[in-house]
Amino acid sequence: MLTLGIEGTAHTVGVGIVDDDANVLANVMEMYRPPQGGIHPREAANHHAERVTPVIKNAFETAGVSASDIGLVSFSRGPGLGPCLRTVATAARSLALSLDVPLLGVNHCIAHLEIGIASTGCRDPVLLYASGGNTQVIALAEGRYRIFGETLDIGIGNMLDKLGRELGLGYYAGPAIEKLALEAERYHELPYSVKGMDVAFSGIMTAAMALKRKGVPLPDICHSVQETCFAMLVEVTERAMAHIGKEELLLGGGVVQNKRLRAMAGTMCEERGARMFVPEPGLCVDNGAMIAWTAKLMHDAGIRMGMDDTKVDQRFRTDDVEVIWRPKAALL
Ligand code: FE2
Repeated sequence: MLTLGIEGTAHTVGVGIVDDDANVLANVMEMYRPPQGGIHPREAANHHAERVTPVIKNAFETAGVSASDIGLVSFSRGPGLGPCLRTVATAARSLALSLDVPLLGVNHCIAHLEIGIASTGCRDPVLLYASGGNTQVIALAEGRYRIFGETLDIGIGNMLDKLGRELGLGYYAGPAIEKLALEAERYHELPYSVKGMDVAFSGIMTAAMALKRKGVPLPDICHSVQETCFAMLVEVTERAMAHIGKEELLLGGGVVQNKRLRAMAGTMCEERGARMFVPEPGLCVDNGAMIAWTAKLMHDAGIRMGMDDTKVDQRFRTDDVEVIWRPKAALL
């Protein structure tokens, strides 16, 4: 059976097609790029409405299959931006009805975890999920993917994008910040905001703006923000690994493309004798293949949804889902 997944929680509309062995036959995506300022949910949703059909067609062509080969349709039910979620859910419902196949709504954060496990060969990891809208440390415990730590305000990617705009580096500024940070001469102290197992970024953003007003060079600001934020994430991740006794770290989300974050996470794993796993870039960012693969696992476990069960959920929590497809015994 082939499964098609449609991702559309934020700026990306993506369509993936996977087979029963987690082979990714297609993973096509298009990203909404705001002309200026931040992402506007309604405009991103308009982009997805315009582009979802061409992206679906492109996925069929890339996979070399036709619509009639698809046995299951799935989509990202949340968490995410309401207008984007509803647009993609409508597309998925229409496709499932026209093909007369089952439809499953998938938790986006869990999908990052499942495609990471399937594509890297790790078995029972702690996931550091660092993206635009989400920043969470997640692991399986007692039948659910539990959030061991998360951001209390904004996702780290959104913070970096906002910083990039303020520093005149354009939108989706993560790569520009990473590059500039390499030219830094010194670290400037910023508020280190770890609260229990959670992190907060907005105070760092304010403090970084104060550095700019004082005339601190941009590379130093970028370096100081990266070092502070990434140290916070790695600290919380390490404590989660120690607390639940897991020896694998999986990275997911667009921000884990950052080489400095990877290096810091890698050093932490090395020091505690743990292994780090990083999916290929197309499976780290928001993508349709991860939605399809998670739906396939859910379907195999007997999960079925009527149309009424497929309402989107902007605040869909990772631990709302009972992970019946991953019995504890299979992970021991
Ligand atoms: Fe994501």
